[in-house]
Amino acid sequence: MATAKTVFVLFGATGDLARRMVLPAFYTLAIEGLLPPGWALIGNGRGDVAHEDFRKHVHDALVEFGPHPDQGPWREFERRLYFAGGGFDTDSPGSLLDVIGHVRRELGPRPELVHYLAVPPQAFPGLTRALGQHGLAEGARVVYEKPYGTSPKNFRSLNRIVHTVLDESQVYRIDHFLGKEATQNLHVLRFANELFAANWHRDHIESVQIDVPETLGVADRAAFYDATGAVLDMLVTHLFQVAAEVAMEPPASLGAADLQSARERVIRSFRPLDPAEVVLGQFDGYRDVKGIAARSRTDTYVAAKLWIDNARWKGVPFLLRTGKRMAAGEQRVTLVLRTPPRPLKGLPAQANALTFSLAGDGQIELRLLAKKPGVELQVEPATVTLPLAELPDAEPLPPYVRLIHDVLLGDRSLFTRPDGLSAAWRAVQPILDAPPRLARYPQGSWGPAAARKLAAPHGWLLGQ
Ligand code: BG6
Repeated sequence: MATAKTVFVLFGATGDLARRMVLPAFYTLAIEGLLPPGWALIGNGRGDVAHEDFRKHVHDALVEFGPHPDQGPWREFERRLYFAGGGFDTDSPGSLLDVIGHVRRELGPRPELVHYLAVPPQAFPGLTRALGQHGLAEGARVVYEKPYGTSPKNFRSLNRIVHTVLDESQVYRIDHFLGKEATQNLHVLRFANELFAANWHRDHIESVQIDVPETLGVADRAAFYDATGAVLDMLVTHLFQVAAEVAMEPPASLGAADLQSARERVIRSFRPLDPAEVVLGQFDGYRDVKGIAARSRTDTYVAAKLWIDNARWKGVPFLLRTGKRMAAGEQRVTLVLRTPPRPLKGLPAQANALTFSLAGDGQIELRLLAKKPGVELQVEPATVTLPLAELPDAEPLPPYVRLIHDVLLGDRSLFTRPDGLSAAWRAVQPILDAPPRLARYPQGSWGPAAARKLAAPHGWLLGQ
């Protein structure tokens, strides 16, 4: 548990991300007793919101997204919530400095400062400069949501600005898919079990699918989403990081820093995407959503074939797919093994498949063939399933809870670094420079038909 007194400044405190993810994670930490003994949270935004109204806002967010306020020490918690309105930029700090001053007097001298930028990437440079200008950067930790940048060029410029104000050791770039339990099990299962370690190779693996269809639309985040789209929101960020988890070479240890270096190294081997192997889509009715531009060309769906140019993965396609308003909500990583070259007579030819379900508390599944008990030789496809939460004494933490706790502890190991991100941006550059034609797809479907060809000959494991 973190012990230093901490002032946590949440920029974008009344936005969708704060309501859905950050504030619930903070309350979960309070319930679990994982917040430091002295702390305060200051929400920041443009409007002038009274402290009392912000507390009500947080209360409502917890009622909607959980954990319910009654499940924890709400009275004690709400006393520590404040709001600083009037925005925050280089010309004017709004009321933030006054509120921080007030909170510092309450908490006692020299609390740690943690700034959480739950705002769109376009706002990162201005806020970062303002932190430096108003003396709030020194010794602080600063958390950046993803995507870290809006293009390869913008990423480089953002990184320069960030490094003029902050030392890299102060920077926490979040990619919450790395904080998911099942994502962490990808490397544990592989490196701790010879059965998997020995087969994790092009000789045995035919293809990999990383499939994250969502039934969600863009709900209350139209402005953010319309300026971002699926490639930036999910592909260059979450899906690439997960692909790197699958594809990395054995790290020096299972320590998080070594894992991070291994992930970054393999991203450098991602071949820049070929626009002919990428399908972009937009769901029907997207342009009618409040806050979306009437002629928006934003992608709400992307499917891509990624190749990794190294000896382990030569010729193995990594099929990546995600989209809004699709037929199902899943988060599945599947390694499809090769079918036995000469199955024995009487045995069906079916490939083994190892699946990691990243959603919720996570689950691992192994598809295999087994003999059905009985006199006859009858072979049945079967799936062995391991829900991670059912392991003895499991205490699964949602990824945001885990990662914010790491920030409070000053542990950067599950956060991304500029080297890996720079390589990820390089790999998507061709589709940003020459985007494939945007195909329409009906809501509730599996996305544009063109993506079927991408997954030939075997097709997507989910849906079509
Ligand atoms: C976020 C994206 O980072 O991840 C969202 O901005 C997406 O568009 C979400 O829906 C998925 O995350 P989760 O929490 O469902 O795993």
